[in-house]
Amino acid sequence: MDTLSVPVKNIYLPELVLIQEVIEETKDIKTFRVRRPQDFEYRPGQFAEVFVPGKGEAPFSITSSPTQEVLLEFSIKRTGTVTEALHRLNPGELIGVRGPYGNGFPIDSLKGQNLLFVGGGIGLAPLRSLINYVLSAPYRKDFGEVFILYGARTPQDLVFRWELEAWGKRKDLSLLVTVDRGENSWNGRVGLVPEVLKELRIDARNFDALVCGPPIMIKFTVKTLLEMGFQANRIITTLEMRMKCGLGKCGRCNIGPYYVCKDGPVFSYEELQNMPEEY
Ligand SMILES: Cc1cc2nc3c(=O)[nH]c(=O)nc-3n(C[C@H](O)[C@H](O)[C@H](O)COP(=O)(O)OP(=O)(O)OC[C@H]3O[C@@H](n4cnc5c(N)ncnc54)[C@H](O)[C@@H]3O)c2cc1C
Ligand code: FES
Repeated sequence: MDTLSVPVKNIYLPELVLIQEVIEETKDIKTFRVRRPQDFEYRPGQFAEVFVPGKGEAPFSITSSPTQEVLLEFSIKRTGTVTEALHRLNPGELIGVRGPYGNGFPIDSLKGQNLLFVGGGIGLAPLRSLINYVLSAPYRKDFGEVFILYGARTPQDLVFRWELEAWGKRKDLSLLVTVDRGENSWNGRVGLVPEVLKELRIDARNFDALVCGPPIMIKFTVKTLLEMGFQANRIITTLEMRMKCGLGKCGRCNIGPYYVCKDGPVFSYEELQNMPEEY
């Protein structure tokens, strides 16, 4: 075959993939396991545009780890048109996936470091990809201590419960799960994430922090991390903006000179401080 006849992949065209499993995480969050499209190589922290025929598409973090070879997972909260349509789908039906997009977490600069993951609600989705990458057999030795602090509004709002249990049993990480409001059957911690964070005995000089969650949680978590002595360039977070193309062409997601879809969605707090006021 001469090189001119090699089909060029259309970056705007989603590949249709079969839903293999749908896991009900909470009353409004479902995890979709789909077959990984061909040649779909991604890094933790990247996202994909997920397309529901007849309804449209929206960006979602890839929550599976690239070390999980055949599957791709998205955890999706029902909020509007596309997500409601997704929540009606069952195993055996098709969705479109295009990507991966975005910069992903700076894995090389995280290597050799101790890592503090701070997640809130569905914000655990992008962190989970990196956590499972770091915990996977080939890469665990490349990272130091791992501390995971995860919070949700109530025990019913915790996502990836089966995995939280598995992480809790591991000897090579520390896990603390907290809820804003407890209940009789909840024996765990009660308290807002930034409040619980203040009590952790962590030497900030030796840790990188990775923070994901609702904007208000990120705001107070970052404030606490700075008070604990974390450096702004060692606090990593992700931004959620309205997006369309996902690959830096339409200008929908720009903040000053940055396109969140292309230059982000992962930024250090130091980078965010240098962004224009509109952010
Ligand atoms: C990089 C990235 C990663 C993401 N990862 C995830 C993830 O892992 N899981 C997840 O659940 N979500 C994730 N999101 C968020 C997700 O993309 C949005 O929730 C999704 O676009 C919602 O699509 P929808 O069509 O269902 O909602 P829409 O119909 O767009 O509505 C969503 C909400 O916005 C409101 N709204 C709609 N249009 C307007 C408007 N013009 N002005 C004001 N409000 C409006 C609606 O009333 C509704 O409350 C991510 C977003 C980004 C950018
Ligand atoms: S979504 Fe089109 S430029 Fe970012």
